[in-house]
Amino acid sequence: MKIAIACDHGGFPLKAELVAVLEKLGHEVLDLGAHQYDAKDDYPDFARYVGQAIQHGQAERAVLLCGSGIGACVAANKMKGVRAGVCHDTYSAHQGVEHDDVNVLCLGARIVGGALAEELVAAFASAKFSGEQRHSRRLEKVLAIEKAG
Ligand code: RB5
Repeated sequence: MKIAIACDHGGFPLKAELVAVLEKLGHEVLDLGAHQYDAKDDYPDFARYVGQAIQHGQAERAVLLCGSGIGACVAANKMKGVRAGVCHDTYSAHQGVEHDDVNVLCLGARIVGGALAEELVAAFASAKFSGEQRHSRRLEKVLAIEKAG
């Protein structure tokens, strides 16, 4: 699967490790930066990069990192077609995809360490939307909210 990844300075310490894990799992990783640590960079810029990658079909899913995961998640969810969630436990990391068709996993590098983050991205990347009728119905309702603005 093509998976985009991006981070601000708060998420920077985890990004390289997660790129390596995703590649080891056989995914094609589109690294949208930050490519170097810059304490003055802003998470909405990176949320926009991954949202655009999803909107343009350059990536099916994305991993988005900031300090807490929260700011990145808020910003990413402003973009059409993006369903982002902060998942700091493995159940949510796969259940968010299976039930809610989450396509952007947001992580806080100040909250989770490398070992847990690796398990979280693996759970997220291997999960599939169940397509069960009740989940599809709920997803349609979410998409209707997005459409209504
Ligand atoms: C940056 O210092 C920090 O505020 C940002 O990475 C993120 O945690 C926001 O939610």
